[in-house]
Amino acid sequence: MKIAAALMAILACVPAWAQDAQRGKALYDTHCVACHYERIHKRDPSRSLVRTVTQLRLEVAQRAANTGQRFTIVDLDDLAEYLNRTHYRLEK
Ligand code: HEC
Repeated sequence: MKIAAALMAILACVPAWAQDAQRGKALYDTHCVACHYERIHKRDPSRSLVRTVTQLRLEVAQRAANTGQRFTIVDLDDLAEYLNRTHYRLEK
């Protein structure tokens, strides 16, 4: 949980204008569809692991770490922005 907290602190520093959803989509299509299609983000909110922007960013960061690839903070932010715009539509 300490690592997650540190990650969130860093993510919170990335200004909103830095988020690039199109870049996020490219990253998603390249690295994330190995295990699930975007359908997983459409599941019923009661079953979703994501209810807030913070949870979305955390989930993205953890899943990204599982891919074995290296992602920058900006990559993670773009991924979260892309998923939020296309699926979750959570208030920031
Ligand atoms: C190694 C397989 C694997 C890869 C690669 C993977 N995921 Fe996932 N992801 C999962 C599984 C399994 C779940 C569902 C977990 C559950 O339901 O408990 C999930 C769930 C999620 C969720 C939560 C969905 C919801 O609404 O509940 C998000 C967000 C997510 N992944 C984002 C990503 C992103 C972004 C990437 C690429 C950086 C990625 N995942 C790559 C296996 C993977």
